[in-house]
Amino acid sequence: MSKNKRPENMERITTEALAKVFVDEQIEEVRAQIGDKKAILALSGGVDSSVVAALMIKAIGKNLICVHVNHGLMRKGESENVVNLFSGELNATLIYVDASERFLSKLEGVSDPEQKRKIIGAEFISVFAEEAKKLDDISFLAQGTIYPDIIESANVKSHHNVGGLPEQLGFELVEPIKLLYKDEVRVVGKALGLPDNMVYRQPFPGPGLAVRCIGAITRDRLEAVRESDAILREEFAKNGLEGKVWQYFTVVPDVKSTGIKNNARSFEWPVVLRAVNTRDALTATIERIPYEILEHITARITAEVKGVNRVLYDLTPKPTGTIEWE
Ligand code: XMP
Repeated sequence: MSKNKRPENMERITTEALAKVFVDEQIEEVRAQIGDKKAILALSGGVDSSVVAALMIKAIGKNLICVHVNHGLMRKGESENVVNLFSGELNATLIYVDASERFLSKLEGVSDPEQKRKIIGAEFISVFAEEAKKLDDISFLAQGTIYPDIIESANVKSHHNVGGLPEQLGFELVEPIKLLYKDEVRVVGKALGLPDNMVYRQPFPGPGLAVRCIGAITRDRLEAVRESDAILREEFAKNGLEGKVWQYFTVVPDVKSTGIKNNARSFEWPVVLRAVNTRDALTATIERIPYEILEHITARITAEVKGVNRVLYDLTPKPTGTIEWE
């Protein structure tokens, strides 16, 4: 049977007790595969790579080298959280690469969404490969591949994740959670002691805020996306919507409209709020957010985010809209 096929009789991991058994088995397997050699892992801070990191730290400790590439398209505070958790609390060997300037200058003037994705994907591989080459004794590449990735490997968007890495680097792959479904990965993450805000994190696309800063990215508009997203997340958390709504974020299109700020005419961007629920991301419905919350978020964004004078709420389900705007 192919190693990439989930056995028919594999029990679904629904409890922490089952997850602990899985973790112990995987620690043994990882140790058997890697021995006293070293492995490298691209740690984005997403659920999958974080769970693999936590599991492999238990298995091989400092011989796992985590590399966190900050592409400048992260949400506010995100890279800091990854560094604090893994370097600080979990004592991981972590290389933090601030590649923001590289990514943003490569993206300058590029407005086509697929072109933006291609540039980000290619640049990510270059940055990661450079880091790997600096370390001369790596034999393995650990990846947070999960079962849906294997099933949907023909998915049009799959190339945005670190798909091309193994071929480029010539390392042997280590994929300890490749037979797990997403809900199982979360239970395993809990069993490994990862915090809830990481285990139950909403999905975040590989190209990050790039696909929410519509058209050609400028640094000031990217900041407007990042700051408005931070306010939306804060207000959702305060109002008990975090963990309840599947995915929520802000989008800043490349248009300006007239408004009034501080008794003067303003000509600034709108921020679009999006909050959707779905089972599989193939279709989605919108969350019916109470008006008081929407109004409060609007007041905060227009007061606190530079360059913004309007807030809109996207009422479009998928279809006809996709979840992201690009
Ligand atoms: P759409 O916009 O296609 O999004 O309705 C469905 C889900 O996929 C996420 N998404 C991406 N994830 N790289 C990713 O890793 C991407 O390029 C990408 N584009 C969309 C999106 O956030 C949603 O959860």
